[in-house]
Amino acid sequence: MLCQPAIRSLTVLAPAKLNLFLRIVRRRDDGFHELETVMTAINLFDTLRFDSCDSSEIQLRVIMAGTRNSLTSPSQPIPTGLDNLVGRAAQLIRQYAGVSHGVQITLTKRIPAAAGMGGGSSDAAATLSGLNRLWNLSLSRAELLDLAAQLGSDIGFFLGGGSTAVCRGRGEIVEPLSHSAGLHFVVARPATGLSTPQVFKHCRPDDQGPDLESFVESMKQSNSSRLVRLLHNGLQGPAESLNHEVQELRERFCSLPVLGHQMSGSGTSYFGICASARHAQTVAARLRASGVPWVHIARSCP
Ligand code: C5P
Repeated sequence: MLCQPAIRSLTVLAPAKLNLFLRIVRRRDDGFHELETVMTAINLFDTLRFDSCDSSEIQLRVIMAGTRNSLTSPSQPIPTGLDNLVGRAAQLIRQYAGVSHGVQITLTKRIPAAAGMGGGSSDAAATLSGLNRLWNLSLSRAELLDLAAQLGSDIGFFLGGGSTAVCRGRGEIVEPLSHSAGLHFVVARPATGLSTPQVFKHCRPDDQGPDLESFVESMKQSNSSRLVRLLHNGLQGPAESLNHEVQELRERFCSLPVLGHQMSGSGTSYFGICASARHAQTVAARLRASGVPWVHIARSCP
C-alpha cells in the first residue's frame, strides 16, 4: 500500500488482489470455511483521500472512476453511506483508539465490485492504515490486524507488507510469500457479479488434489510452467453453477493462448496468466473484441 502524506490530508492507493490458489479445507462450526489461499496484489487501485475536518463527523463520498461523480453503477450499487466497509473501518478504528476526530473520505473506485478482487477489503485496510497515520494514533500492526479481522476475512492481507501471501484460517492469518515471479495477467469481469456468502454456501471441501506446498514452491522458484499447472480455486465450480457468465468466461479463456487461467476468489472476475505485457495486450484485445464488458491488463505488485 502506497501512502503520500500531506498536511491534514493523506492519499492511499488500495490495490486489487487475485487468488492464484484457493483450497477449501473444511467447513467450520462458526459457518466460515477454513482456507489455504495464495493471494497476490496487482497494479489496479482504488484511491482513498482522507481530509481532516473540524467536526467529529465521518463523511464518505464515492466516485466511480470513468463515470464522473456518479454514485452508483446500474448493476452493482456500492454502498456510499457509513454501511460501506470504509465507513465501518473508520468508525471501528476511531472507537478503538478512543478519539472523536472527524474525517472526509473520498473513495475513487476502479476495482469492480462483487468480483472476487478484494476491492471493498482493500479499501477498508487502506482506511485503517490511512487513519492510523492521519490521526497519529500509533496503533501497532498487530492491533490493525485485529481490527481488520473484525471487519472481514481478507482485509488483513491488504495490511501486509508483502504483495503476495499465503493466507489461512478464514483468510485472516497472513504469511508473506517472497518470490521473484513477476506475473503478467489479463483480468476480465462479466456484466454480473456474485455474492461471496452465496458462493461459499454452495462449496465443498477440496479433499484431494490441490497441493499448497507445491504451488508455493513453484512461486518461490519462479517456475511459471509448473505454477500454471497447479492453479486452483475450489470456489470456481460453485460460482460457475450460480452464474453462467463465469462458465462462459472459462470457455473463452480455454480458446485463448494464455499460459493458464482461473476465476479469482468467489468471482466473477477471471484471469489469464501471460508470458509478457505484450502478450497480455494481445489477449486483452481479443477479449474486448468478443464483447467482454471489463478487461484489464495487470502485473503482480513487486
Ligand atoms: O469475512 P467476509 O465478510 O469477507 O465473508 C463474507 C462471507 O463469506 C461470510 O459471511 C461467509 O458466509 C463467507 N466466508 C466463508 N469462509 C471464509 C470467508 C468467507 O464461509 N473463509
